[in-house]
Amino acid sequence: MATQAETTAISPFDRIGGIAALRRITDRFYDLMDDDPAYAALRAMHAADLAPMRASLPSFLAGWSGGPRDWWEANPGKCMMSMHAPLAIDRETARQWAEAMRRAIADAAPADLDIAAALADTLSQMALGMAKG
Ligand code: HEM
Repeated sequence: MATQAETTAISPFDRIGGIAALRRITDRFYDLMDDDPAYAALRAMHAADLAPMRASLPSFLAGWSGGPRDWWEANPGKCMMSMHAPLAIDRETARQWAEAMRRAIADAAPADLDIAAALADTLSQMALGMAKG
C-alpha cells in the first residue's frame, strides 16, 4: 500500500500527463493563436516563427509544475513576470492569452480534470497579472 509520502509526491506535472500532455496543450495553444482571428492581437505581438515558443513554453511549464527543469537550468534567474514587463500587454491581449490557453487545455483533454482546471485557472491569473492598467 502507498504511504502518505508516496501519495503526496505526485507532482502537478505527473498529474497533467507529463511532457507529452504539456506539448499537446502548448501546440494547440499556438495553433489557436495562429489560426483563430479572435487572437490576432496576441499573435501580432509574437515573432513570425512560433517554433521557438513551441519549444520554450512546454519546457518552462514542465519545471514550473514539478517536472524536468531544462528550461530553468538554461535560463538561470529568469523571471517570467519581469521578462514580460517591457511588453505592451493590455487587458485584451492578456484575456486572449488566458482564453486560448483555457481552450487548449480543454482540447488536449487531460485525464485528470481537477488538475486541468487548476492549471487553466492559475495560468489565466498569471496572464491577467501581466496586463498593465
Ligand atoms: C499575458 C499575455 C502574454 C503575452 C501577450 C505574451 C507574449 C509573449 C511574447 C511576445 C514573447 C516573446 C516571444 C516571441 O516574440 O515570439 C513571450 C515569451 C514567452 N512567454 Fe509570454 N506572453 C503572455 C503570457 C505568458 C504567460 C502567462 C506565460 C507562462 C505561464 C508565458 C510564457 C512565456 C515563455 C516561456 C516565453 C519564452 C521565454 C524564453 O524561453 O526565453 N507568457 N511571451
